[in-house]
Amino acid sequence: MFPHGREAGKVSGGRNMVKDNHDCPLTRGERILVAVDGSKFSDAAVDQAVSLGGVCNSQIFVISVVDLYPEQMAVAPALVEKMSQEVREHLDRAAEKIEKANIACETIVHMGGTPHEFIVQEARERAVDLIVMGTKGRTGLDRVILGSVSQNVIGHAPCAVLVVPYNV
Ligand SMILES: Nc1ncnc2c1ncn2[C@@H]1O[C@H](COP(=O)(O)OP(=O)(O)O)[C@@H](O)[C@H]1O
Ligand SMILES: [Mg+2]
Repeated sequence: MFPHGREAGKVSGGRNMVKDNHDCPLTRGERILVAVDGSKFSDAAVDQAVSLGGVCNSQIFVISVVDLYPEQMAVAPALVEKMSQEVREHLDRAAEKIEKANIACETIVHMGGTPHEFIVQEARERAVDLIVMGTKGRTGLDRVILGSVSQNVIGHAPCAVLVVPYNV
């Protein structure tokens, strides 16, 4: 957890202080979960989360899942190592952006071949108000309207989901 300072004209101090989030366009926006996979789409999702978090006095959780099934992990330890390192880098890059905006940030890592399940589970357990993610991700096929992780999160999320294209 990091200090949550505010800019001039806003409330200063941590989350325990009286909040001034009347500019927040969301019904509730105190807790935002942003899902990152290192793609330009998820970079855009982080930017949107930072924009919202700034006016909603939010805490932002950043999740990235090492997208490998246990069977794959068992036979390819070097791949596990490489992908875990990449995930760490995605999270660090996102956290840096969020903290630079003086927003409290916590990073979450999971390992498993069904990223949407971990994203939905964390959203539920941490009682987040909003999930922010990209329309697509690292695969980013032109002919696909919405990536499968996004589709599955939208279908199972316990809260609103903001799905962001990369060119906004
Ligand atoms: N492994 C992952 N961990 C966390 N978030 C992910 C992961 N994979 C995808 N996402 C999120 O879902 C969005 C859409 O990605 P995805 O559905 O996988 O599309 P694609 O099929 O193009 O890779 C990404 O921009 C990111 O926000
Ligand atoms: Mg993907």
